[in-house]
Amino acid sequence: MDHISDILGGARTGRETEIRGWAYRSRASAKTAFIVLRDSTGIVQCVASRDNFTEEKFKQISSITLESSLSIRGTVFQDSRAPTGYEIKISDFTIYQRNENFPISRDLGEEFLLDIRHLWVRSQEFTAMLKIRSTVFSAFSEFFHNEGFYEVHTPMMVSTATEGGSTLFKVPFFGEEVSLSQSAQFYLETLIFSLEKVYTVGPSFRAEKSRTWRHLTEYWHAEAEAAWLDNNGMMDVEERLIEHIVKRVLSERQNELGTIKRDISKLENIKAPFERIRYSEIIRNSEKYGISLKYGDDIGMDEEREITKRFDKPIFVTHYPSELKTFYHRPDPENPSEILCHDLLAPEGYGEIIGGGERIWEMDVLLNRMKAYNLNPEEYYWYLDLRKYGSVPHSGFGLGMDRVVMWICGLKSIRDAIPYPRTIRRIKP
Ligand code: 4AD
Ligand code: MG
Repeated sequence: MDHISDILGGARTGRETEIRGWAYRSRASAKTAFIVLRDSTGIVQCVASRDNFTEEKFKQISSITLESSLSIRGTVFQDSRAPTGYEIKISDFTIYQRNENFPISRDLGEEFLLDIRHLWVRSQEFTAMLKIRSTVFSAFSEFFHNEGFYEVHTPMMVSTATEGGSTLFKVPFFGEEVSLSQSAQFYLETLIFSLEKVYTVGPSFRAEKSRTWRHLTEYWHAEAEAAWLDNNGMMDVEERLIEHIVKRVLSERQNELGTIKRDISKLENIKAPFERIRYSEIIRNSEKYGISLKYGDDIGMDEEREITKRFDKPIFVTHYPSELKTFYHRPDPENPSEILCHDLLAPEGYGEIIGGGERIWEMDVLLNRMKAYNLNPEEYYWYLDLRKYGSVPHSGFGLGMDRVVMWICGLKSIRDAIPYPRTIRRIKP
């Protein structure tokens, strides 16, 4: 059994082949039936001549319906008129399942396409996105593996919030109430004391109350944590990571980027280093970035859109005022009202794809910050223990994989970067 990519690669030309897949397109006359077959590797035109089949069999193949499943045996010819340059003259075929009324045709509404996402995933554009997404995930792991980080796994059901109570999902747990994890960070912090450099990829959960183009309630979070690294050191790692991911996509997914009509020149630009701009600089130059914020205001989704439209590479924004972020970020010793943190904002209006920074590693500083955030130290006893037994300077970050896929693919919504998006209004299919 061959794959369509074997045929498109030229290696089967003039020879017999057998492929299987789904009818992507079909049309027929009294004498000839054309079927464009698709499998996971591509599409190819197949043609059946009335002369080679009984009346009954020719009827079957010439009336094949969209997305019916079948296998085809035949001879491969090069043919510049065919959609992908090759054509298979069918000598025999087997239909596995003949469809009635596949529900997807052109021009359907967004909500309907989300209702039938389990069928829409078959489309050429979606398949291309899924392949790019697969490459992004493998490139992420490959990068950290090569950098000597260990992959670890952390619980999804937890008893402590990392990113504040307002986006916690509560679930029943044997008579208690626990939360779904917002971030693996605190567990990663515990693990650097044995492995020094760790990473993980898994789902994170945020009870986001509004539906935006870049928020999911369940998203794929790739996080890393390293002992002995400061804020700048962590940003060095991240810019090389992003460069690596984009490079892998460019070299491995040229065809798919073409299928979704991504402007590749925008990606070819993505080379480290990335500019590092302080929050206070952004505020000072508000006008230049097309925003109007004063010191102390958060840089929201709309502001990030304006700022990053003006860049053709990702930028780091560093040193936010401490009130704008959660409690664990380390205050800058030179100016303790600002913290040693960073967000990495993707260009072309996409905005935040990474949040990270240096962690408070001194017990008294951490206790003070927790007090300011009204957190109960007893609930965080294990997090505090890390500051009690052999504490070390360390840094880490979390990257939203679906956001990275959205940016790399040039998509309008994060919902199109994941097969089954979960938002405030959607839990099906
Ligand atoms: O900025 P966040 O909230 O940071 C953390 O959770 C840290 N504890 C991570 C760490 O340092 N280990 O989330 C990190 C990233 C964001 O930059 C964004 O890309 C993504 O996670 N993200 C979301 N993606 C999709 N939908 C949401 N609702 C997201 N919330 C955060
Ligand atoms: Mg953030």
